[in-house]
Amino acid sequence: MGTAFQSAEIVKNERKRLGTSFKGKDFLKLSDFTPSEIHLLLEEAARLKRMKKEGIPHPFLAGKILGMIFEKSSTRTRVSFEAGMIQLGGNAIFLSSRDLQLGRGESIHDTGKVLSRYVDGIMIRTYSHEMVEELAREATVPVINGLTDTHHPTQVLADLLTIKEVKGDLKGLKVAFVGDGKNNMAHSLLEGAALTGMHLVIGTPAGFEPDPEIFHQAKRISSMTEGSVQVTTSPEEAVAEADVVITDVWASMGQEEESEKRKILLAPYQVNSRLVQYAKSDYIFLHCLPAHRGEEVTEEIIDGDHSVVFEEAENRLHAHKAILHLFMGT
Ligand code: CP
Ligand code: NVA
Repeated sequence: MGTAFQSAEIVKNERKRLGTSFKGKDFLKLSDFTPSEIHLLLEEAARLKRMKKEGIPHPFLAGKILGMIFEKSSTRTRVSFEAGMIQLGGNAIFLSSRDLQLGRGESIHDTGKVLSRYVDGIMIRTYSHEMVEELAREATVPVINGLTDTHHPTQVLADLLTIKEVKGDLKGLKVAFVGDGKNNMAHSLLEGAALTGMHLVIGTPAGFEPDPEIFHQAKRISSMTEGSVQVTTSPEEAVAEADVVITDVWASMGQEEESEKRKILLAPYQVNSRLVQYAKSDYIFLHCLPAHRGEEVTEEIIDGDHSVVFEEAENRLHAHKAILHLFMGT
């Protein structure tokens, strides 16, 4: 009884503290938000991280349920969302598309409407971003994008949190992303860097440039935040004087058949000890993981002193809890 009463009080106070700006909205891509909303999410993630470390209970989602649809594999996203819901006092249900009727052809339209009758939020990892948008239109509960072919916004929120923790601030930092410039990480980093006033340079071969619409939108946003976004075919130019060096796999989920071709085309973009000599001496290295050591990054870099990949992985938990709390809770 005491605990339930305490939880109700905590939730009521939280509502007052935060206002209602995120309630009921979807988290599909970073550019759907303003710079101050991104900063609020980062502050909330940092606060929940502190509460967790100090053992302060934070059952802000007591009684709430998250449904998690996975059409692609996942370690970090699945476990951190599920653990996050439990730490927030709620529950999560793992829904593999292999088991759902979705896998046998039921529409996303009906799936969204039906799931909304059972759960308080839906997290989905799938191929097509348009499908997630359709789900969000049909569902009456918040939808969270846990990765599509074009965006990985929950990852980049965790990346921003990690960079902010180590560097103190985001605005004005130079970030280099080297590798596949048109994958989900490159796109979400474009949006995340633009929203936070960072200078992002993508080093990628011809033919791997970001989606032009996403790039131009990021450029427009960055002109308002005093940041910048740029693409070059030179990995050295991308990494020159960088505070942060980021890479990702060369063949994303769904591109397995292109893997050998990509290994050849992207080889000059490997993050190794030669390339990082161009970065600032106190640069940090990020990778969303899973990584292929010896392909996009060498062991000495990912397992070296500048690497913060495991802090970054941990921060998925705290960033996701902030999203869950703000969108599903208050
Ligand atoms: N970085 C990331 O999204 O990891 P998973 O594929 O393991 O969820
Ligand atoms: N770009 C990668 C990210 C994995 C977390 C992929 O989509 O497979």
